[in-house]
Amino acid sequence: MDNGLIKPIKEINTFHELLETQKKVWGLEDIDVVPTHLLKVVSDEMGPKAVILGYFLDDEIIGFTLTLPTSNPQEVIMHMLAVATDFQRKNVGYNLMLKLRELMLSQNIDKIFWTFDPLESVNANLYLRKLGGIITRHSIDYYGPIESRMHSGFPTDRFIVEWNIRNKHVENRIKDGGKGNCSSSQLNCPYDDSEVQFVEIPLNIQELKKEDISGAIKIRMETRSKFEEIIEKSNYVGLDFIYDKINRKGSYIFKKPLSK
Ligand SMILES: CC(C)(COP(=O)(O)OP(=O)(O)OC[C@H]1O[C@@H](n2cnc3c(N)ncnc32)[C@H](O)[C@@H]1OP(=O)(O)O)[C@@H](O)C(=O)NCCC(=O)NCCS
Repeated sequence: MDNGLIKPIKEINTFHELLETQKKVWGLEDIDVVPTHLLKVVSDEMGPKAVILGYFLDDEIIGFTLTLPTSNPQEVIMHMLAVATDFQRKNVGYNLMLKLRELMLSQNIDKIFWTFDPLESVNANLYLRKLGGIITRHSIDYYGPIESRMHSGFPTDRFIVEWNIRNKHVENRIKDGGKGNCSSSQLNCPYDDSEVQFVEIPLNIQELKKEDISGAIKIRMETRSKFEEIIEKSNYVGLDFIYDKINRKGSYIFKKPLSK
């Protein structure tokens, strides 16, 4: 979808709407939502590197992202990215991230980083394949327990993604419109199998959590040990993601860089 308007949000009424967006998209309880007063402080007082970007369709807000400065003047953290359920998987997240990159380039930022759940395949697809982000760390139970129903009882393991917004890898991904190297299957990937490691994940972890939480936790534990081994012990980085629609498979591609 490319027909919306993406712009920074400043109005208190729109911040109120974002509370509902957070609850609907992530199933968050009140206690886990970023509140209106904090959004207001971020937008008014934290300078040009703190940005709340909204994707508007007519007057309706269908997606947003919240980005904050860090102690490193060249780096910001993208703390939230959410797209309303009816508009997911239509490039809204991609276009929000491209706009964020444009704004951050103008603020002399080199790197935007964020966290995400390694078992969320749509996020993996967007961040690695379409945007050219790389996974450099894996953290066990990053947020500790979260009360909200989407996360309840499920360990909050996270990847840390780095998006080096000025580097060639990222520029190339954006130039090809987010097609990436491995759009559909392992067979078409340009990677040498002897240099890379693949880790498969399910394409529907949220459904699995609802239907069979102990099965979902088992997948968490199995993939956790693979990610710990590959990233934290062997220093590989996550470079790409394959979304194989035909065989209903999703796989990360990890490769050992010359230096981490
Ligand atoms: C994750 C999220 C921000 C991505 O934004 P989006 O606008 O939906 O993403 P995009 O459409 O730009 O890109 C998604 C890509 O994943 C693909 N995709 C669809 N189903 C998929 C699946 N099951 N697994 C992997 N990729 C999938 C889409 O086809 C699209 O690729 P394409 O453009 O090449 O066709 C958005 O879906 C969202 O807010 N989800 C809410 C849930 C969430 O965030 N969960 C994480 C828990 S913290």
